[in-house]
Amino acid sequence: MAEVLTQVPADDGRYDVIAVRKRFPALRRTENGYPVAFLDGPGGSQVVDIAIDAMAGYLLRGSANTHGVHGTSVETDEIISNCRAAMADFLGGTPDEIAFGANMTTLTYAIARAIARDWREGDEIVVTELDHRANVDPWTSAAEERGVKVRWIRVDPELLVLKTRDLSDIITSKTKLVAVGLASNAVGTINDVKMIAKAAHEVGARVAVDAVHAAPHIFVDRDEIGADILVCSPYKFFGPHLGVASIRRDLFDRLETYKVLPQYNDPPDKIETGTLNHEGIAGAEGAIQFIASLGQGDSRRERIRSAMETIESYEDPLANWVRAQLRAMPKVKVYAAPDGVRKTPTIAFRVDGWAPRDVCRHVLKKAVYVASGDFYATTLAMVLGIRESGSWVRAGLAPYNTREEVERLVELVSEIAE
Ligand SMILES: Cc1ncc(COP(=O)(O)O)c(C=O)c1O
Repeated sequence: MAEVLTQVPADDGRYDVIAVRKRFPALRRTENGYPVAFLDGPGGSQVVDIAIDAMAGYLLRGSANTHGVHGTSVETDEIISNCRAAMADFLGGTPDEIAFGANMTTLTYAIARAIARDWREGDEIVVTELDHRANVDPWTSAAEERGVKVRWIRVDPELLVLKTRDLSDIITSKTKLVAVGLASNAVGTINDVKMIAKAAHEVGARVAVDAVHAAPHIFVDRDEIGADILVCSPYKFFGPHLGVASIRRDLFDRLETYKVLPQYNDPPDKIETGTLNHEGIAGAEGAIQFIASLGQGDSRRERIRSAMETIESYEDPLANWVRAQLRAMPKVKVYAAPDGVRKTPTIAFRVDGWAPRDVCRHVLKKAVYVASGDFYATTLAMVLGIRESGSWVRAGLAPYNTREEVERLVELVSEIAE
């Protein structure tokens, strides 16, 4: 049993949430006479001022296509290469391993289609029951086209962690690729990707890691966790709608991507079909600058690491407090891995007798924004048998959320759940 914390964790003074909030113009929004409590971050965070300014600045100064000799074109090339460097600092790897796309899902389809050209009948791939379908379906549809068998790492429906005890039965010499999420966007479980990647590499398989949900909350090190492909989405970490992939150079060089004839054949351009979202890329670099500004260190990578540790140590106790409060309510069921399993500050729950969507409507009366549904963690919702009844209510913390906001959520839920 989790300890029921009666007090909201005290601010330890290391982190100035008021200063952080000033950087997010959307937080001025009000509804029903209340300042909006944006607890819908796992669906997309609010955007930081510096990212908005970078996007507007690009369009105001004059946009252009790339590789020209005129000023706006040269600036566009600079913006793209600066953002590749920023993303490499954020995720690990080098700037030429960073590719941009419309979003994580579209990038993953492009990567899957390219990598699958090498797959043959008799090969196998591995996906998980805990993942968002964006890290499942691109791989399984490519597998289907190539006559490749799909195997699943199951989820423990009680513990909400992946069942990895029999991994060597699932990841075998036939395995070509293992796709696994760094964190569950529904219940927040952070997976031991390093261990799974090690098992994959021992049999010569590639590892594709979905870091979309993890990247706003924990420090990500592509090489340390053993990802050959790592994808994320800046709109989840204070930037605009965009997708980013970091692909290890040894794989990227060999990847036969689907591309038009005149497109460069070198990484990263070879996977970036068409004209990129230049203003979005400008904004994404702004988001990384903001994150780095919350940390300390000599290099930007060190500042990002320190910032992400600070963010985690701010968000984590607040999320634990919310889970404990909700668990203490007779009509609430919280879906979370046991204490001791590292989690993102994402809280999934249901209220007995209430459709998840109606819970969202109820808390709206004091302008609390939470979401409902399966959030494309569809397999998990099916395994738990809750998909037909609306899956979950999901509240997610971001670095701009306050203690008052989570108290407001808890109080509102208690009105219908005590
Ligand atoms: C864990 C996870 N993976 C993938 C995605 C899909 O990302 P995108 O919208 O960039 O395609 C999401 C979006 O919510 C997500 O939470």
